[in-house]
Amino acid sequence: MTSQHFLTTERKKTRLYLICTLTLTVMSLDITMVMLMCVHQAVVYNEELTAFTSRVTTNKLPYAVIRSKRYDNSSWDIDKSHVGPVVNPYQFKYVLEPRNVCDEGHLLVVYVHSDVRNFDRRAVIRKTWGNTSIYTDIQMKLFFFVAMSQRGEDDDVLRAEARENDDIIQLGFIEHYHNMTYKAIGALKWLVTRCKTVTYLLKTDDDTFVNTFALFKHIEALSEDHLYVSGLLVCCRGHLKLVYRYGKWAVNRTEYPDDYYPHYCSGIAYILTADVARAIYRTSAHVPYFWIDDVYVTGMIPEAIRLRQIDMRGAYIRDVGKIDELFAGNEWYKFAFCHVPDLHHFERLWNIVRSKALLERIPDIEVVVPGRLANNYTYRYRADLPYYYVPPLTEMINY
Ligand SMILES: *[C@@H]1O[C@H](CO)[C@@H](O)[C@H](O)[C@H]1NC(C)=O
Ligand SMILES: *[C@@H]1O[C@H](CO)[C@@H](O)[C@H](O)[C@H]1NC(C)=O
Ligand SMILES: *[C@@H]1O[C@H](CO)[C@@H](O)[C@H](O)[C@H]1NC(C)=O
Ligand SMILES: *[C@@H]1O[C@H](CO)[C@@H](O)[C@H](O)[C@H]1NC(C)=O
Ligand SMILES: *[C@@H]1O[C@H](CO)[C@@H](O)[C@H](O)[C@H]1NC(C)=O
Repeated sequence: MTSQHFLTTERKKTRLYLICTLTLTVMSLDITMVMLMCVHQAVVYNEELTAFTSRVTTNKLPYAVIRSKRYDNSSWDIDKSHVGPVVNPYQFKYVLEPRNVCDEGHLLVVYVHSDVRNFDRRAVIRKTWGNTSIYTDIQMKLFFFVAMSQRGEDDDVLRAEARENDDIIQLGFIEHYHNMTYKAIGALKWLVTRCKTVTYLLKTDDDTFVNTFALFKHIEALSEDHLYVSGLLVCCRGHLKLVYRYGKWAVNRTEYPDDYYPHYCSGIAYILTADVARAIYRTSAHVPYFWIDDVYVTGMIPEAIRLRQIDMRGAYIRDVGKIDELFAGNEWYKFAFCHVPDLHHFERLWNIVRSKALLERIPDIEVVVPGRLANNYTYRYRADLPYYYVPPLTEMINY
């Protein structure tokens, strides 16, 4: 694709969206349906176009310039003498694997937990934020991790999808929410062995919308703030959560005796540095299986290795309607992750985010503190802040 072609189609798209009709439809069975029609006319000024052109002719999307700082691998190995005996000798079978895995150039690997049946969700991610070919400055790789359907009824379609997109890893167990932790650990194992040179990993689900431009800004900030990019689990860190004893998420006292889970992260999206991914995978053999994967991967294992999660809750939006507010107020970059189950909504959001990202810069900021990016651009990182203190890995594994 030439940059000229890129420019003209993008210009057309830009006009299309600037003269846009924002339709916000909030639907629920018993709640009223709200339709908000907002016709927003705008003129693309010459100077904007000039700035736009100069950026686009270099065929680069803005903000994606990450002064990549590679991971210092000297402390990769966790000292096994500090953790208990092996209690989970996980065995994984990878039924389908991509031909091309990661290479030296990839800075970020995004891996999506997907259900084998969710063909349409994977397709929409590939078409929207997961289309890695549109990011020219950040080398991002995308993989989907799925398991097997009950009777193998989806096997043929999945094989065709895998051949076409080369981004599917299928694990050899049956899809079930009690098997989610197998998926999580199987994914980490695959990634730490196949993507050894990658610096960051982002875990998401197939119904998570990722504002990649804001995400890159976070990553850039993390990279600038740390001499070595290591020891990070950045997420929406939950408060202490009560263990449910009833319902779909019921857990009995044999499975989990305490009343509260350790602090853990929302599974819709979390960022790991490669060393943390590796430490979590290795430690998983020593921590008894627990089927709620978010609790296990981002709570129990970090607790076992004394890894403190870094809270970035400001970058998460729970309510899709809130995104429309941000967009209307030109604050489209003030979120990175949102749970968006409606596929049409998904595409609509992407079209808006992408056209905005081409025209508007995310304000320059000296330092971004995770969790503050969405609200406060002036705040300076201070080393004495406890929530931002990331101890070296050797300190973290003192048991
Ligand atoms: C760390 O990186 C160096 C250079 O890339 C490599 O030779 C070495 O084997 C790596 N160490 C580990 C523990 O992976
Ligand atoms: C990804 O983006 C490229 C470049 O804009 C485009 O050619 C390609 O069709 C897109 N892929 C999908 C799956 O939409
Ligand atoms: C998890 O996967 C295994 C292996 O495929 C399967 O036997 C088991 O039934 C699955 N668990 C559930 C709860 O379905
Ligand atoms: C607790 O749950 C596990 C897994 O579902 C089950 O195997 C076990 O029998 C249950 N224990 C009790 C005491 O109900
Ligand atoms: C940004 O954060 C700092 C430190 O918490 C606070 O002092 C300052 O008032 C905040 N600024 C804004 C605009 O919220």
